[in-house]
Amino acid sequence: MCGIVGYIGKRQADELIIKGLERLEYRGYDSAGIAIMNDTLTIHKKAGKVKALRKLIKEEDTSGTLGIGHTRWATHGEPNDTNAHPHTGNSGRLALVHNGIIENYAVLKSALIAEGHSFSSATDTEVLVHLIEEIQKEGNLPLEEAVRLALGRVEGAYAIAVIDRDNPDVMVGARKQSPLVVGIGEGEYFIGSDASPFLDSTKRVVYLEDNQIATISLAKGLQLKNTDNEDQPPFIQTLDMQIEALEKEGYDHFMLKEIYEQPRTIRDAMRGRISSKESRVALRGMEEFANRFVRANRIIIVACGTSYHSGLIGEYLIEDLARIPVEVEYASEFRYRNPILSEGDIVIALSQSGETADTLAALELAKKKGAMIYGIVNAVGSSIARLTDAGSYIHAGPEIGVASTKAFTGQVTVLTLLALSLARKLSTISNTYFQTLVRELELIPEKVEEILKENDHIKYIAGEVKDHHNALYLGRGYNFPVALEGALKLKEISYVHAEGYPAAEMKHGPIALIDENMPVYVTATNKSAYDKIVSNVQEVVARKGRVIAIVNKGEKAIAGIADHVIEIPSTEEPLTPLLSVIPMQLLSYHVAVELGKNVDQPRNLAKSVTVE
Ligand code: F6R
Repeated sequence: MCGIVGYIGKRQADELIIKGLERLEYRGYDSAGIAIMNDTLTIHKKAGKVKALRKLIKEEDTSGTLGIGHTRWATHGEPNDTNAHPHTGNSGRLALVHNGIIENYAVLKSALIAEGHSFSSATDTEVLVHLIEEIQKEGNLPLEEAVRLALGRVEGAYAIAVIDRDNPDVMVGARKQSPLVVGIGEGEYFIGSDASPFLDSTKRVVYLEDNQIATISLAKGLQLKNTDNEDQPPFIQTLDMQIEALEKEGYDHFMLKEIYEQPRTIRDAMRGRISSKESRVALRGMEEFANRFVRANRIIIVACGTSYHSGLIGEYLIEDLARIPVEVEYASEFRYRNPILSEGDIVIALSQSGETADTLAALELAKKKGAMIYGIVNAVGSSIARLTDAGSYIHAGPEIGVASTKAFTGQVTVLTLLALSLARKLSTISNTYFQTLVRELELIPEKVEEILKENDHIKYIAGEVKDHHNALYLGRGYNFPVALEGALKLKEISYVHAEGYPAAEMKHGPIALIDENMPVYVTATNKSAYDKIVSNVQEVVARKGRVIAIVNKGEKAIAGIADHVIEIPSTEEPLTPLLSVIPMQLLSYHVAVELGKNVDQPRNLAKSVTVE
């Protein structure tokens, strides 16, 4: 949700900032802007993608070695030139970019209007820059002190970067519940919503904690304080991330690249954690708290979107294999419904970005109520990763495509390892079955490679179904959450209405929708309840629905009646989601491409949802 970049150093800031914004565009892409300090402070901003801003500033003088930039995902105020960031106050001396929401902006705005401030945008952000300006005016304060005092009057979430014409060698950044990281280079400093904007210049970073304010100047370097004005020692980390991970590397879209990365990312999620030779599965983060896990009353999984769907698979896995009761909740519901939690409960948060506001808030609530919290997260050093008592990274590398793919399979892989490890400790499955599952899990990456070879066939099917305005996704057992995920993927990138259902539920309502215009995607790789799925498919066919079935190689019953069949290798039933989701991802991708949609940056969405 909104991307922030800042630079102070000896190089020209404009190109570094624009390039950084392009890397952050996955966080929001409805408008962009830049403020540059030279003899004076100039702001340039434009509705649309960063490339529109690039075009706008081509003819302008944007030379200068200090600047900030922003790419926006609108919350308050429609996406237009005026509402784009940076914002400034009455005097024009300040420029500020913001990610988050100022909740008490209306009260602050009325007070500022009474003081003579006039506003040009419909954003909550503009209030903050006027407030800083007002405080500066009252006390002739240094920028960082005015920012600190202003933040003390603000309710809500923020990551901000501010520069000041009258303090032309300082950049100030601050965070509360929205991510902000400082990059430390050779005689230069960066600010970013994540490290991607400056990864090619430095890997040395400081992740700001909530309520920290960073004051950066070339003379004094990086100085950290909290909002109570106490000095804070910066904790410098060196990132282990390659710049190539942020490039498309020959693929047409990040989403396609990320789908194709899955054999590797699934292997990376398992690396060092599993060995069929040694009959071993171990997640280090969990081992430390093994006693709490095996004695857990119940496990509650909180997540949003695609991560929620992996959570549902986690529920099937942990209950099926380890026999611990599991509940899965949308984080946004959990946080507001006064859930019953006790010390014997373990709350697991699933999140790709590690910054999702609802998931973070759910964890804070769980922590307050005394539950142990465990994170299964992709983004290293993210807010959720830091809040949890323990956890396991999925090691999928940066996921740039807004539609989540490799993070889903990474999460499911780690949940499978967790379930297997608990099952081993609790002796809830036989040694032989444990061994079979471990061996099969090790084979999953190869099987995913095999499915990816079906890409041309899946592309052909996408061409056949692309013009339908609705779709139904059906699955049973472990494949029910895959049906939900398939429907979500199609919706978000092709804007085709799609619903996922447990196959047997179809006759309780959705069957009324079925006619020759309704493609029905059925995952039929389950060994249990197989005959029942065949019956469900018959019910669709009898009503002239068009069936696209995902089946195991050599399957005959469904292949004989479906309009299209995608064959995938067979595996043990608890592991099927790791395979059956791949054709769903490819199908959605190709439908969206065929329809000419912006696959990596679908309308209205953002990769990292840091607002409620
Ligand atoms: C769907 C998608 C979203 C995210 C959701 C949670 O493709 O990307 O539904 O899954 O916003 O995000 P994380 O996992 O970052 O907490």
